[in-house]
Amino acid sequence: MTDLISVRGLTKSFGDRPVLRGIDFAVPEGTVTVVIGPSGSGKTTVLRSLNALELPDGGTVTVGSETLDFAAGEPGRAALARYRAQSAMVFQSHNLFPHKTALENVTEGPIVVQRRPAGDVEAEARALLDRVGLADHADKYPHQLSGGQQQRVGIARALALRPKVVLFDEPTSALDPELVGGVLTVMRDLATEGRTMVVVTHEMAFARDVADQVLFVDGGKVLESGPPAEVIGDPQQARTREFLDRILHPL
Ligand SMILES: Nc1ncnc2c1ncn2[C@@H]1O[C@H](COP(=O)(O)OP(=O)(O)OP(=O)(O)O)[C@@H](O)[C@H]1O
Ligand SMILES: [Mg+2]
Repeated sequence: MTDLISVRGLTKSFGDRPVLRGIDFAVPEGTVTVVIGPSGSGKTTVLRSLNALELPDGGTVTVGSETLDFAAGEPGRAALARYRAQSAMVFQSHNLFPHKTALENVTEGPIVVQRRPAGDVEAEARALLDRVGLADHADKYPHQLSGGQQQRVGIARALALRPKVVLFDEPTSALDPELVGGVLTVMRDLATEGRTMVVVTHEMAFARDVADQVLFVDGGKVLESGPPAEVIGDPQQARTREFLDRILHPL
């Protein structure tokens, strides 16, 4: 399978504090990569680098047809825009426009940023809201939706941008437990359809069932990677075992 994402030697410091210390991995097209690791290990920074929301200090990232080489200095605006258009991000929570309906939240990016025709975009947005189980909620405002429904609007909004890859940063960790399942079900369906996804999550059952590869990130490095049966089922590194033990057997 062709790699849709390729990350080489990514480094990033905040001030004099190194946060990414040489991150390497590849994501074949149509596969799901789950990123796990302790708090502060750099998971979000890796994900934000994939969307160029964060600009690393060194290394290269390729997503789809676009490559950024951070060692060559800051990329130009046009290169950044082309690069960012390859992916879309689903955040932890609280990022819908509060004064726009679910439908308007989904159509905003394609109409305003991508300048696609409003009629086409709206038809596609309604189909996407249907896909995430919200056909009847298109005209509701975020405050009229549950946290889980808001997250599913966020997923529809990401898909409406027609990205080659969807990036998820702990999409269920801010939800009440009874709302987590509905969001994970939508994500499982997307994986089954062959969507390329990179997912930061602590949901180990999801990782085990859905991931093609798991990356264990610790101290700004990928300490261990491979299929879930290896990284989660039979971890080789002591740090991975300690982390999984804490996640799978909380006090
Ligand atoms: N904008 C920033 N300015 C300064 N330091 C930052 C910034 N963003 C992240 N950091 C630091 O970089 C390190 C890695 O942060 P990151 O958010 O990538 O970790 P994470 O693995 O996603 O953690 P968590 O599981 O808590 O979400 C942390 O020590 C964090 O404090
Ligand atoms: Mg994070």
